[in-house]
Amino acid sequence: MRAKLIVMQAAAFDNWYEARVVTPSSPSAAGLALLQSKGCLLCHTTTGKPLVGPSYKGIYGTKVTVMVKGHEEVKTVDEKYLKFMITHPKVWVVKGYPPIMPKTPLTDKEVDEIIAYIKTLK
Ligand code: HEC
Repeated sequence: MRAKLIVMQAAAFDNWYEARVVTPSSPSAAGLALLQSKGCLLCHTTTGKPLVGPSYKGIYGTKVTVMVKGHEEVKTVDEKYLKFMITHPKVWVVKGYPPIMPKTPLTDKEVDEIIAYIKTLK
């Protein structure tokens, strides 16, 4: 077996590492821009005030009751939950709200950016 060994000087390593880790604009900033450009903020707020749908503020990590085919289920708001709610509207419907969220075409990356932003809204 042959293995390739890459030897870098410390400074060069730091540069390489930072270039990989730090992106020019953060995913969460991109997430906010998407919420605006995709029309999500017509129905949702980032301030804690419900509009047509629930506000995104402070929901991450909480428990929420959703209607699933006519019965109630309690879900934890984590990345998986948010991804599902964003990509499959109307399957689970947050209790107390009408099932009117439209399906918006988004790439996986866009969904991840939106979730990264929602997570910052403590
Ligand atoms: C026409 C209004 C409308 C638009 C536009 C809309 N939503 Fe919603 N959304 C709702 C309503 C109403 C609910 C609550 C009922 C439900 O779960 O379907 C909801 C629920 C959610 C939830 C679950 C929130 C919670 O508290 O558990 C998320 C996440 C969400 N929407 C994200 C989005 C994103 C991201 C977009 C834009 C791509 C978007 N929504 C666009 C109306 C909307």
